[in-house]
Amino acid sequence: QNIPVICIDGPTASGKGTLASRVAAALGYHYLDSGALYRVTAHAALQAGLTLEAIDEAAIAKLARSLPVRFEGDQVLLDGVDVTDAIRSEQGGMNASKVSVLPAVRDALVDLQHSFQRLPGLLADGRDMGTVIFPEAPLKVFLTASAAKRAERRHKQLISKGFSANIDALRADLEARDARDMSRSVAPLKPAQDALQLDNSSLTIEASVEQVMVWWQSRQ
Ligand code: C5P
Repeated sequence: QNIPVICIDGPTASGKGTLASRVAAALGYHYLDSGALYRVTAHAALQAGLTLEAIDEAAIAKLARSLPVRFEGDQVLLDGVDVTDAIRSEQGGMNASKVSVLPAVRDALVDLQHSFQRLPGLLADGRDMGTVIFPEAPLKVFLTASAAKRAERRHKQLISKGFSANIDALRADLEARDARDMSRSVAPLKPAQDALQLDNSSLTIEASVEQVMVWWQSRQ
């Protein structure tokens, strides 16, 4: 059965999650936040007493293979416990990028990601949705925005949640994470050959949604 998938890949804080979930809502499709799986894996590893410095790849992959994770609306539950705030922090993103370089961990999360492909369709966001996980997807978007713009958005988001944040430190962090994601040997961040590029530096979220919907309609 041919279940449609739209992939949205791109660097940290480019707005993939917002765009993907808006398009998913508009189309009535399911939504996969693949970054959350790497974040939860890192969280589970730390909870199990493992370190992310001298990494035990096999042990973390074993955790990832039977990750008791559930998505409920905007909440992410690990073993029934709400870990949303813990995994969404900057530290959570940094930790995720450390486990995501491990080939055995990436491999362990493949089946779980495929299980999100259900009727009537799926919006999948991440770094390797179009290149590795759903290479047959009929629409692949590579979403970018300038580092300055991404840092600015992340800063606003944190401030609005009542966190304190320093915009220069945020920018340095996201550039470090991008560098790690782009340079790893397995499934590095890069556009699929048939991906359409969308730079949203000066677009509203509505305009970005509209662009993806137009591309999607032209594929029907
Ligand atoms: O998208 P998000 O910022 O939540 O992802 C956190 C980290 O997880 C990324 O920096 C990246 O290292 C990793 N990731 C990945 N492959 C994906 C999604 C996320 O390697 N498909």
